[in-house]
Amino acid sequence: MNILKFHNDEDFIQTGANLIVSLLQSNPKAVLGLATGSSPVGVYAKLVEMHNKGLVSFSKAASYNLDEYVGLPVDHPQSYRSFMNEHLFNHVDIDLARTHVPNGNAADLDAECLAYDKMLEDNGPVDLQILGIGSNGHIGFNEPDASLNSGTHVVDLLEETLEANARFFDKLEDVPRQAVTMGIGGILKARQIVLLVRGEEKAEAVRNALEGPITTQCPASLLQSHPNVVVLLDEGAGKWLK
Ligand code: F6R
Repeated sequence: MNILKFHNDEDFIQTGANLIVSLLQSNPKAVLGLATGSSPVGVYAKLVEMHNKGLVSFSKAASYNLDEYVGLPVDHPQSYRSFMNEHLFNHVDIDLARTHVPNGNAADLDAECLAYDKMLEDNGPVDLQILGIGSNGHIGFNEPDASLNSGTHVVDLLEETLEANARFFDKLEDVPRQAVTMGIGGILKARQIVLLVRGEEKAEAVRNALEGPITTQCPASLLQSHPNVVVLLDEGAGKWLK
């Protein structure tokens, strides 16, 4: 695991973007695993900027997002499909038909989960998986629990996750209580994982994930078992690391 701490945002963002750009420069058909949330926003903006300068093309790339809320209309501003369109897809030359976000409105969610895993199996592995981490150590929406699912599945979001995500909605009650998420096994199949973490409120989760025991009570700690993880931290997020 390669842990990089940054003193300023610009270096953090540029380093994250460079990892994706160099992958696409050497392998234009790369399969990207993408996350939503605040952590990758700056990196996506930088990718758009680098694309506009002609430094990177997404025209042959494919993408798979980690998760999506259950029951939120796909065109709702807070759906993860809308997030990806707004922050990245609408501003680069990616073929939308090759961008994938789990369908949280599928009539049969279990079948949707199986189909998502089949697509990943047929078209993967993911070359580079972007991750953020929840304050409770979740990755994707794999919440701390006595056991974790390997494949894509429907999850009941924990109260702390609903509260953390309420900032994107008018009120707490508007946050969907369930999501479809790739499982830990699916996430760990990626060839490379890039974990982006910003802010002091994540410092404890970062310490538990990177220096604590590997435990399902901190899903991100399972990243310790992956051979190729790069962690990008700002000073706040890295402040409790040894
Ligand atoms: C988002 C996702 C979540 C977030 C995590 C951190 O697709 O899967 O695990 O990465 O909740 O969110 P932010 O970056 O908003 O702090």
